[in-house]
Order: sequence, then C-alpha cells, then structure tokens
Amino acid sequence: MTIDPRTLSPRDAYNLLVGAVVPRPIAFVTSMNDRNVVNAAPYSFFNALTGSPPLIMISVGRKKGQMKHTAENILRQKEFVVNLVTDELVHSMNISSADFPEGMSEIEQAKLTLVASTVVRTPRIETSKVNCECVLYKHLEIGTDPTDLIIGEVVQFHVKDEVYSNGAIDQAKLRPIARMGGNFYSRANDLFELGRYNYEKKK
Ligand SMILES: Cc1cc2nc3c(=O)[nH]c(=O)nc-3n(C[C@H](O)[C@H](O)[C@H](O)COP(=O)(O)O)c2cc1C
Repeated sequence: MTIDPRTLSPRDAYNLLVGAVVPRPIAFVTSMNDRNVVNAAPYSFFNALTGSPPLIMISVGRKKGQMKHTAENILRQKEFVVNLVTDELVHSMNISSADFPEGMSEIEQAKLTLVASTVVRTPRIETSKVNCECVLYKHLEIGTDPTDLIIGEVVQFHVKDEVYSNGAIDQAKLRPIARMGGNFYSRANDLFELGRYNYEKKK
C-alpha cells in the first residue's frame, strides 16, 4: 500500500500517523489557569528535544478552533509540569482526557493527589515516578488547523528513589506506559541491551 497523505482526510492522515509513530511516551501535563485552578491532561505528541538545556515538546491540537486548556494555561502562566505515566496512573490519566463541563475538576474526578513543585507554581502529581517542572521556552503555531507546539525547558526533575540509580533512571524499574495507535497502549518492559556500534574497534 502506498498512500499520499494529501489524498486523505485530516482524520485518516492522523490515524495513519499515530499508528506509525509508536510507541509514544505520555506527558501527563499539569497546568494552572489565572485563578490557580489546576488542570491535568495527557499528551502523547511528546518528546525530548535537546539536553542542554533540557528541552521537551508537546503538541496540543485545538478543539473547534479553540485552544485546549493546557495550551491556554501554559501561554498565560509560562510554566507547566510533565508527569510521567506508569501503571498506577493509567486510569486517572484516561479520566483526565475527558471533556468535563466547566467548573468540574479533573483532579477530583481522577482522584489525583497533587504536591507542591519546587521551582514553578504549578503543582505536580504525587503518584508519578518522574516529574519535570518546565518553563515555557517557545510556542509555535504549526499545521493548518492550527496546532500549538509548546517547547518547555525542564528547570527541575523529581525522580522517585525507587527508580533512581547512580544518576540515571532505572529502566527495568520505571515501566512507563506508552500510547500506540487507536485505543492501544503498551508497557515498555521487554528490555534488551545493545552497546553502541563502534567502527574503530571493529577494524
Ligand atoms: C493517551 C492520550 C494522549 C493524548 N495526546 C494528545 C496530544 O498529543 N495532543 C492533543 O492535542 N491531545 C491529546 N490527547 C487528548 C487530550 O488529552 C484531551 O483533548 C484533553 O481533554 C485536553 O484537555 P485540556 O483542554 O484540559 O488541555 C490525548 C489523550 C489521551 C488519552
């Protein structure tokens, strides 16, 4: 099958893309509005960009032309927190992705426990094994709809002791949840190790 995306509807092109670019890590983002009400929502168009400074990105689509609360909050407050998703948080994450009527708190519905961050004002999710406190680095409007591409600089990491080992995150213990195509998710717990190929050593 060979498919020119220009012949597809935006929905069909999106479906192919999210089935092909897998597995995707999930940023469970906390952000705050101007009344300090905390919002939580998952974003799987999420990745790391550079190490120095540590930059991450999330891509936030719009709903009927309107910015999602996460993008609106980040652009106003210039900060947010990325909370990593593991088994303990899957159901809360899913609940938080729903459209609740104005005034109904996702935090209460999803039974999330928040704790204070140390650099930004936006709180982080207690159960998450890794939290990245971020400040807004850059915002770009991309695509035709358009979409809000948010680049954040990580200004503080919080890593639970149980997954922290000698300056690194213990990959066997973290067991992150990733987003696949459709309604599928996966657990990254089938690890194998492969040293970096070194051409000089092979000569
Ligand atoms: C696992 C998962 C990943 C998601 N990833 C994205 C994403 O990358 N971009 C996006 O715009 N919406 C994504 N969504 C949908 C948003 O979470 C959803 O629209 C949410 O209601 C937005 O909330 P907000 O308006 O409070 O920001 C995802 C939903 C789920 C369940």
